[in-house]
Amino acid sequence: MSKALSPFERSHTVSCAVLVLFIMSGKQSRKSFLACLSLLVFSISESSASVSGECLADADCPTLTAPEQPIPSPVVVDLATVPAQLLSLAKLSDVESGPGVTRLIFTDSDAAGRAYVRSLMEKAELVVREDAMGNIFGRWVGSEPTLPAVGSGSHADAIPNSGAYDGTLGVLGPIEAIAALKRAGFKPKRSIDALMFTSEEPTRFGISCVGSRAMASKLDAVYLDSLTDILNPDHGSFRNAALKAGYANNTLNTKDMLSQCSLGDYGAYYDSFIELHIEQGPELEEENLSIGVVTAIAAPAALRCSFTGDGGHAGAQLMHRRNDALIAAAELSSAVEKFALDTKSDDTVATVGVLKVGPGAINSVPRTADMEIDVRDIDGERRDKVVSKIISRGQEIAKKRNVRWSHEIVNADPPATCAPKVANAIEAAAKKLKLSSKRMVSRAYHDSLFMSEVAPTGMLFIPCHKGFSHRPDEFASAIDIKNGVEALALALASLSLA
Ligand code: GLV
Ligand code: MN
Ligand code: MN
Repeated sequence: MSKALSPFERSHTVSCAVLVLFIMSGKQSRKSFLACLSLLVFSISESSASVSGECLADADCPTLTAPEQPIPSPVVVDLATVPAQLLSLAKLSDVESGPGVTRLIFTDSDAAGRAYVRSLMEKAELVVREDAMGNIFGRWVGSEPTLPAVGSGSHADAIPNSGAYDGTLGVLGPIEAIAALKRAGFKPKRSIDALMFTSEEPTRFGISCVGSRAMASKLDAVYLDSLTDILNPDHGSFRNAALKAGYANNTLNTKDMLSQCSLGDYGAYYDSFIELHIEQGPELEEENLSIGVVTAIAAPAALRCSFTGDGGHAGAQLMHRRNDALIAAAELSSAVEKFALDTKSDDTVATVGVLKVGPGAINSVPRTADMEIDVRDIDGERRDKVVSKIISRGQEIAKKRNVRWSHEIVNADPPATCAPKVANAIEAAAKKLKLSSKRMVSRAYHDSLFMSEVAPTGMLFIPCHKGFSHRPDEFASAIDIKNGVEALALALASLSLA
């Protein structure tokens, strides 16, 4: 079924095509990328006429603030700035590894991304500091600088061949939100921080949210040292990589590095925290809504397990004499799907995301099958039951198929409930901007999972194209980005006055 495209849909389609072109073009065709970027800026400025000047009379708006200083209106974010910054950041990628954005933590592209983020913070006249793990803080000092601040941030590391928006929107958005509040003449009472977290993605060290876990004092030094660095499997450690990247210099050891990054007791450093993020699912777009107000964040349990058989010759070894590790893993993989479906809740999801077969030769019966399994839910107890069923089934299959079994629970973090005062501030901001919104859960995890252990925390979602994420054609439109950053600005302003 086809229908005529509205001007906004046309602009969205053009911009999406531009991003895909950019991602596919690689380093070689920088010129064609620049031509595409001009087209993008043109397409979004064309559509801006219909959305600028949308701010409303204060009489229409709920009271968000202490009466002494109303939230300024309008707080205006232009359509082009953040999308162009996102594309600049997307260029800082290990392009060799594929068509999308790849930015593993503490690599050269990560260092370049950090320099870019710091430069934007400096341009916005924020006071920049970096901690021993490489978390970056850009502070707009409030009129009462000793009060716990308001924070907003996300991550800029990107899994292999992913997109330009996951995490990065939540890093660049707060800097622009602060700049917009400054332009509007707002003066914060509590300081407002824009943050970039180190290593939200688990790609390099096998554990997610390294920077925010450290802030929340939820990371054990011995455990962190035990993790394998995929770029340096023999003797790499997180601290070594941090040292090479210019961090952790003033620390004695990993324990010291971690404790220097702790933000202390709940509410002591931040009075509230908001993460702006693309939804990474299709609900907002399908329901034609602008803003998602997150009420709970699902948490993953990560399970590593292995089947080991005896291998053998693929021609000479008869079928009934084999103990094929891959067949055991295949059987467990379908059980993983079944156990998640059996809960009858959409909130339970389970994925076998890694399956490595050894020795990996066409003429060899698989001797080893190493699996990594991700199970998530907003209900921690239900998730843990699924994990237990997977482990028991793995043991049964191993027995039945005469292979050896081992497993390790890498992490099983508790899901988070978002703070009502933060969700209310986001919802009120959306209402003030006359943006449609709904309350929803986050099925992906985020640094907010750990920031919710540090301070009252909430998340603000914007739609993304078809819900695509962790893939090169991830996309959020300029208008959705503008709406999200403006809503973030108003929510930060109201929380800074609280
Ligand atoms: C975050 O990247 C996630 O996997 O949810
Ligand atoms: Mn991600
Ligand atoms: Mn993310």
